[in-house]
Amino acid sequence: MKRLFGMLTAAALTLSLVGCSSNTPATGGGVSGTFTGEATGQGGPSNPVKVTITLTDGAITDFQAEGPGETPGIGSKAIDTMPDAIVATNSLDVDMVSGATVTSTAILEAAKAALAEAGLKPEDLVKKEGGESAGAEDITKDVDVVVVGAGGAGMIAAITAADAGKSVVILESTGMAGGNSVRSTGGMNAAKTVFQDENEFGEIAGVEAKLAAAEAFSGTNADQIKELAATVKEQWDAYQAKPEGYFDSVELFELDTMIGGTGLNDLELVKTLAENSADAIDWLDEHGATLHNVSSFGGASVKRIHRPVNEEGKVVSVGAYVIPILEKNVTDRNIEILFSTTAKEIIVNDGKAAGIRATGEAGNSVTINAKSVVIATGGFGANNDKVKALNPALDGYITTNAPGILGQGIDMAEAIGAATVDMEQIQLHPTVHVADDGSANLITEGLRGDGAILVNAEGKRFYDEVSTRDKVSDAENHQTGGYAWLIVDQKMYDASAVIQGYVSKGWTVTGDSPEALAKEMGVDEAALAETISTWNGYVEAKNDPDFNRTSFAQPLEGTLYALTVQPGIHHTMGGLKINTNAEVIDTEGNVIPGLFAAGEVTGGVHGSNRLGGNAVADFTVFGLIAGNSAAAYAK
Ligand code: FUM
Repeated sequence: MKRLFGMLTAAALTLSLVGCSSNTPATGGGVSGTFTGEATGQGGPSNPVKVTITLTDGAITDFQAEGPGETPGIGSKAIDTMPDAIVATNSLDVDMVSGATVTSTAILEAAKAALAEAGLKPEDLVKKEGGESAGAEDITKDVDVVVVGAGGAGMIAAITAADAGKSVVILESTGMAGGNSVRSTGGMNAAKTVFQDENEFGEIAGVEAKLAAAEAFSGTNADQIKELAATVKEQWDAYQAKPEGYFDSVELFELDTMIGGTGLNDLELVKTLAENSADAIDWLDEHGATLHNVSSFGGASVKRIHRPVNEEGKVVSVGAYVIPILEKNVTDRNIEILFSTTAKEIIVNDGKAAGIRATGEAGNSVTINAKSVVIATGGFGANNDKVKALNPALDGYITTNAPGILGQGIDMAEAIGAATVDMEQIQLHPTVHVADDGSANLITEGLRGDGAILVNAEGKRFYDEVSTRDKVSDAENHQTGGYAWLIVDQKMYDASAVIQGYVSKGWTVTGDSPEALAKEMGVDEAALAETISTWNGYVEAKNDPDFNRTSFAQPLEGTLYALTVQPGIHHTMGGLKINTNAEVIDTEGNVIPGLFAAGEVTGGVHGSNRLGGNAVADFTVFGLIAGNSAAAYAK
């Protein structure tokens, strides 16, 4: 197994100078003119980051950066924000956008290339004093609600509390909003939505397989699972007698989530998730984020994951789509986000959470006195020490998590007596691609839901690709080299901007036939041709006698694309214990007054294994609940 910890190992930066549009000789200080440079960022060598620097008498008077291949919502943040800091300080000695290190580095390298074209080195620029150090003074604010973490859960809680008339401040330890949420690719699970009804129902085998699994289930919460299955069976029988519209139910969503989590989940939290999921889709829609493309995902009996599409109708990544819309909603409400401000401690007065003590970017102290505190700092998937301490078998795995996802919120709440649950339950996602620059990149499960297959180094399928992540990851770890190839075809490529991004970044190999693809992959040509032909027969028959896969989409035809994938740490299911009002519970089982939590920082919703699409559902549903509860408490 190829393991590599830390997804932001140095990018393989290649520089190329692309010329100077000025006739001014580039001879050092006092230079004027316009100079360009480029460097490889996340878009790969074919789609580099380009900068254009305008110098007037040796000082930077304009700085433009473009990076169409940089990850929306992550790298694009650096493209948007770093040029202003460079002009303001007349220097390349500016902070990188944390969480967007590859793009930040590419901007600086491209700028160095442009300066070199002008005959200058970065140290030839005279840095303007004070350009970046504003804000070094200590800050104290009094608000109704302080939210820690500007990811999906935090911003939704903040928007909700502000709409309830409360004053809100968000603290964010990194330089950008989004946390792990901006990296989520797949979509959001929700049951009984208007968008599901736009689909034709064809998942009979999926529902029946789940009812059989419930029948055979013997682990934790077995009685409750069988009770849910009995309700679903009644609904299913009624639907079969009169099949109208799309079949799904809140109880089937609960059943899928409970069985996916091997029954370890907190059933009350699961019910809250499922019952509020359709309203949460509507809330997002009303706030500008429409998720109406519905598809299959691992562990779901029916099509339930809701995804965004671009103007061309192609599926796009959910996090990169939703997060900027949430950020705009935050900005529109004048909710302040204090970036690069790390929460250190929950202030407690008379046994009640009463604010946050934090450290600002310049080491200054930030004190936010508040009536309610919402913790939405995400999990701890990027904290290898914590992962290793809780589950030694996962030491050193690659991770899809943002670098700031270290578990700080859990530590802070534990310090004032909060209880945690399921901390050792840490999820491996089976399809993470390690690029040539060493970065670990989530390859969405949606590809398998839309028809992709996984084959091993011998060119053979080895598991039901749309099973739950724990099972697929385990099967992959048992293949030669601990990795697999994920294969998609031309029509999937045409329908998905996500796949097109993987191809343009140079992560895939391609071939016009199974044999041609096999040659590029370095696997046995006859074996791969046989695998694809057999699979296509199963798709036609809607029956997979080898691995009992129950979602088929369409046969793999025409030009094929493949990329290597391996398991990587994706989600930490454990975290702060909460109740259905998103109130944090202490180690004695009591509510901690004034303290609320939502999203991956909490535990209990997902049991031992989260279903794909349930993270966005979790941060939306519980973000809304936490915002409402915090606002109600802050009377
Ligand atoms: O595979 C994915 O797109 C991930 C989705 C999720 O973790 O919910």
